[in-house]
Amino acid sequence: MSKAFKRYTITSALPYANGPIHIGHLAGVYVPADIYARYLRSKGRDVLFIGGSDEHGVPITIKARKEGVTPQDIVDRYHNQIKESFETFGISFDVYSRTSAPVHHETASEFFKKLYDSNKFIEKSNEQYYDEETHTFLADRYITGTCPHCGFDKAYGDQCESCGTSLSPLDLINPKSALSGNVPVLKETKHWYLPLDEYEGWLREWILEGHKDDWKANVYGQVKSWVDQGLQPRAVTRDLDWGVKVPVEGAEGKVLYVWFDAPIGYISASKEWSETSGKDWEPYWKSDDSKLVHFIGKDNIVFHCIIFPVMLHAEGSYLVPDNVPANEFLNLENDKISTSRNWAVWLHEYLEEFPGKQDVLRYVLTANAPETKDNDFTWKDFQARNNNELLAIFGNFVNRTLVLTQKYFDGKVPARHELNELDKETLESIRLFPEKIGSSLELYRFREALSELMNLARLGNKYLTENEPWKIFKTDPQRVETILNVSLQIAANLAILSEPFLPFSADKLYHMLQLDKLTWDEAGNTELLASGHELGTPEFLFEKIEDAEVEKQVEKLLATKKENLSAAPAKPQKEEVDYETFATMDIRVGTILEAVKVPKTKKLLQLKIDTGIDQRTVVSGIAEHYEPEDIIGKQVAVLVNLAPRKLRGITSQGMILMAEDKDGNLRFVSPESMVNNGSEVK
Ligand code: MF3
Ligand code: ZN
Repeated sequence: MSKAFKRYTITSALPYANGPIHIGHLAGVYVPADIYARYLRSKGRDVLFIGGSDEHGVPITIKARKEGVTPQDIVDRYHNQIKESFETFGISFDVYSRTSAPVHHETASEFFKKLYDSNKFIEKSNEQYYDEETHTFLADRYITGTCPHCGFDKAYGDQCESCGTSLSPLDLINPKSALSGNVPVLKETKHWYLPLDEYEGWLREWILEGHKDDWKANVYGQVKSWVDQGLQPRAVTRDLDWGVKVPVEGAEGKVLYVWFDAPIGYISASKEWSETSGKDWEPYWKSDDSKLVHFIGKDNIVFHCIIFPVMLHAEGSYLVPDNVPANEFLNLENDKISTSRNWAVWLHEYLEEFPGKQDVLRYVLTANAPETKDNDFTWKDFQARNNNELLAIFGNFVNRTLVLTQKYFDGKVPARHELNELDKETLESIRLFPEKIGSSLELYRFREALSELMNLARLGNKYLTENEPWKIFKTDPQRVETILNVSLQIAANLAILSEPFLPFSADKLYHMLQLDKLTWDEAGNTELLASGHELGTPEFLFEKIEDAEVEKQVEKLLATKKENLSAAPAKPQKEEVDYETFATMDIRVGTILEAVKVPKTKKLLQLKIDTGIDQRTVVSGIAEHYEPEDIIGKQVAVLVNLAPRKLRGITSQGMILMAEDKDGNLRFVSPESMVNNGSEVK
């Protein structure tokens, strides 16, 4: 079943270089990828761990335009910041490259050319939205409109961020140019398409049959639903001037679609690594005995499980991934992480505000990783996990062991004498940990692996507590020698086994034990420290995090929330209308008689309203703002002559008028004192 691989090619999604890294990126991609890479290295495997910045795409050009600088200025700024913060955080990339690098432009361009020359693309001219004021074709995020699937009115031309559906600009209802706000016109343009539909059979066999059992259910399920819905040819070029130029004739003003060039960035980065390491990159990508694994977040699944593999397969000489252990999303204090709303914990800020505490964040993000469902990061949980787990269990065990050895034996490892049952049992169970933790890691179960690691620290604590060496030293020093010898062997095992998760603490621990770094397969051994071996000075591995420190962080987030809202200026006044136009809208006061949640939706409540005219059903998107039981009996304003609409199979006859408060909550617009149901608002 599990094949022996000679090499591991581990990629982590290339972050867009238009903003800093936050905890969502870390928990979803970089922390698990780094744990995996470090573990494999400790196993003595040959690993190439790849990272880099994704520097093309429309959002970068939009940001540059807003700031009045060049796209290159933007990516330079963030690439350097991101690279540095990853380094300080201990993400152990073998190479961290970028897609504006010449080696990448060459590699991506050649890749395209090879597919082009072997007729793997379809060439098609069609009409696309064009902004006449700015003379630009409106690709991807240059166009916004209403999502045809969920009705979200700020969907982009390539994706609706509310329901996650991948879109094409022509799908949008009420399209608008993001550049000028104008309604765009249609204009003819030529592009190259990758005919994904032609690879359906291959994808089914490779993933749906071949990886039924070893890919994560969330990943497999998404791929299956995509393939079952029917794949369409996908354009791989764009009318834009920022990106990798399309290397064929008649393609002036066109670049490769960012999602075509970016994953090729993994290959370009490997080439760059070749230059510096002197190793050949090709076997890592082309030899059957290499294992390719993509670490990504769930929004990247289609690109890494369908589009990029089809590209690699069509090219012909590359491997396809062995696994794509995508994670779900991490929320922050019960709200979706958002770069534009500044709702995030930024890595570079964390590193400044919690210097030396990289491992705490690594620990919390792993213990709470969104492996099978979305999860929430809270500062309270951060504090609790540090104080009650890292410090109270791991740190405390190591500290007690080292301090007692220092005190009783002058910091020299004491000898082991006759063993009792508890000693034997304890030594026996130490032997099992490397295999237990390792097999969880091989299955990409990082939370499980971490909790096993903590169980080893727990075992140590329990062993010390049951033996109480501090009570018997006077009467039975020989027994204490044995106890501390066993405890020190546990500490040495912790150094080896914690390294992938907590590399900074592992280093400290090695140092305190005066051990050189050991390999994973040396763990499980209970004679890692010979008697007489001299230990270093005990230091604390972790420090208590005080209430004030996390309260400060929560306050910072609250300030962000306030700032966002006060920064949102009132929308400009709409176009003038005459009274007759206004009067066509029939707005009445009604009373809410019943309210229930619409099943399987987050936002919708089904209401029954007494409008004075009748009792009718209205479906309203307020479920996140009101509890059904709290609004029964409330009087509200209802637009009663709005054409009925079906929402989730329920016909909604009218619309409740709402206003947004400063915290973004929707609030009813209600009469100031009770009026008759059916009275007109005019
Ligand atoms: N920049 C993309 C994102 O942040 C990820 C690109 S992954 C790559 O969602 F494969 F294209 F590089
Ligand atoms: Zn949508």
